[in-house]
Amino acid sequence: MRMNGPSGGEHKSEQKPATAARMYDFYLGGVHNFPADRQAAQTVVDQFPAVPAVARNNRAFLGRAVRFLAEAGIRQFLDIGSGIPTAGNVHEIAQAVAPDARVVYVDIDPVAVAESLEILHGNDRATAIRGDLREPQAILDHPEVRRMLDFTTPTALVLAAVLHFVPDDTEAYGFVDRLAAVLPAGSYLVISHGAAETFALSDDRTAAARAVYTQRTTTAGKPRTRAQVELFFAGRCQLVDPGVTWAPDWRPATGDPADFAGDTRRSGMWAGVGQFTPMPTT
Ligand SMILES: C[S@@+](CC[C@H](N)C(=O)[O-])C[C@H]1O[C@@H](n2cnc3c(N)ncnc32)[C@H](O)[C@@H]1O
Repeated sequence: MRMNGPSGGEHKSEQKPATAARMYDFYLGGVHNFPADRQAAQTVVDQFPAVPAVARNNRAFLGRAVRFLAEAGIRQFLDIGSGIPTAGNVHEIAQAVAPDARVVYVDIDPVAVAESLEILHGNDRATAIRGDLREPQAILDHPEVRRMLDFTTPTALVLAAVLHFVPDDTEAYGFVDRLAAVLPAGSYLVISHGAAETFALSDDRTAAARAVYTQRTTTAGKPRTRAQVELFFAGRCQLVDPGVTWAPDWRPATGDPADFAGDTRRSGMWAGVGQFTPMPTT
């Protein structure tokens, strides 16, 4: 289903409000977006011209993290806030390393889920469901999650560029707690997160970009500091080297986007991977 194709015909869904998934797809140069998404995304880009590069670099981090995990033997991925799995997403990378890797994509946006299912057609080891990170038990109990993933086996919980859509700190840490509680030792947590430390933007431009999400989508955003992002791992995970870093600095590889070469702080996104380890009891 090509959404912004050349026909230019009125699509019923063109009247829908913008969503974070389809705005992100627009930043990445994808075709899975409607006029409302493009207008809202363009407003963000006007305030924050680096946003497409931020999205590219986030996606590149995600790719490196998934490859690292597949090479480390992980065969199950639960990717929440997955967006639209266009080229280079989790299932492609994981299954290129290990064809038996299984992936469940979860997103709040029904159009992203429909698009995902279309892209995944014929792949019986990857599926997509509609789910809300703010309802973690419903995700864990979902029949497709139960069918595809075995939580007695190490699993990667991927939360890439989604936790900043849970503005309340207590809720955000609590939802990760609920999800992490079912994962056995040896599992991994992958997080990227919009940074509260702004180096490329004035405060009012940041506020203007955030206001687009608050006013035009149902997913208001809140960036967090590096220390706040590290807290998602604290008490349950051993951070993999090099810890929580700017996204382009996490295990850079040949072929990475070069947008922020020389000043990776401008990537605006913290990123890290941690392995669940049994924590000493006190
Ligand atoms: C910026 S995109 C990130 C996509 C992908 N994870 C990546 O990093 O390339 C954020 C995604 O999170 C989804 N999202 C936002 N709030 C969510 C929630 N409460 N539950 C599930 N998904 C959510 C949006 O619909 C969107 O697809």
